Amino acid sequence: MTKPIFITATDTDAGKTYFAAALTHALVAAGFKTAVYKPISAGCEEKTDPQGNKQLINQDALLLQQQANCQQGIKEINPIAFKAAIAPHIAAKKLQQTISLTQIETGFEVCYQQQSDYIICEGAGGWRLPLGKKLFLSDFVKATQQQVILVVNIKLGCLNHALLTFESIKSDGLTCIAWVANYPEATAENLSYIYDNIAELCDLLPMPLLAKLPYQKDISLAAEQINLALLT
Ligand SMILES: Nc1ncnc2c1ncn2[C@@H]1O[C@H](COP(=O)(O)OP(=O)(O)OP(=O)(O)O)[C@@H](O)[C@H]1O
Ligand SMILES: [Mg+2]
Repeated sequence: MTKPIFITATDTDAGKTYFAAALTHALVAAGFKTAVYKPISAGCEEKTDPQGNKQLINQDALLLQQQANCQQGIKEINPIAFKAAIAPHIAAKKLQQTISLTQIETGFEVCYQQQSDYIICEGAGGWRLPLGKKLFLSDFVKATQQQVILVVNIKLGCLNHALLTFESIKSDGLTCIAWVANYPEATAENLSYIYDNIAELCDLLPMPLLAKLPYQKDISLAAEQINLALLT
């Protein structure tokens, strides 16, 4: 049976793609067939394929594709893409388009057809990402009943952001199965403060800490920090 996992974070740029790529790498290395899904992206490069068709390519979708072991095209991984690096529903509005939950769910069903062990699904922005018309990306997670992993960017303000995000996930009736401490900006000077924040969150959040991720360029080394036993 396919197990979908939705990766959310305390904010944009918190490390969702970084962690999702590392998790995908770890699952593939452990022998699992792993598909990826990035339903919505904003901030894409326009490229022309050999047939002359223009396509919007999102960097997150490319990074996830590189780690997964299913035959998924970029459009399949990332069906809704906007060129401008702005809130997706505002980008859609500027183009007189709307983002529909059906479109996101249909893309998810296509991923399911891979019959993989896991689908690693990366959100966009934070938990309550607006889609327009009073809909949110969290409505898709609710409709598909995915388990959630929360990536926390460990910095000033993260305790509040992490707790509010956790409470929202819970009030949506979903299970946050684990959290991740991501701290690429740690220095010799602030490391003990970062560890204090991680200890606070270990105390305040009821779900287990899945990985501690300091700065590391190599995704395969980051993958080794993930305690996969907590997922299976
Ligand atoms: N632990 C880390 N070590 C090294 N680089 C990191 C780490 N965590 C994040 N980064 C880098 O920080 C940047 C932001 O991270 P990332 O793209 O994963 O955030 P995101 O939450 O996916 O953002 P978005 O909301 O735009 O999707 C990226 O360039 C990423 O490679
Ligand atoms: Mg990302």
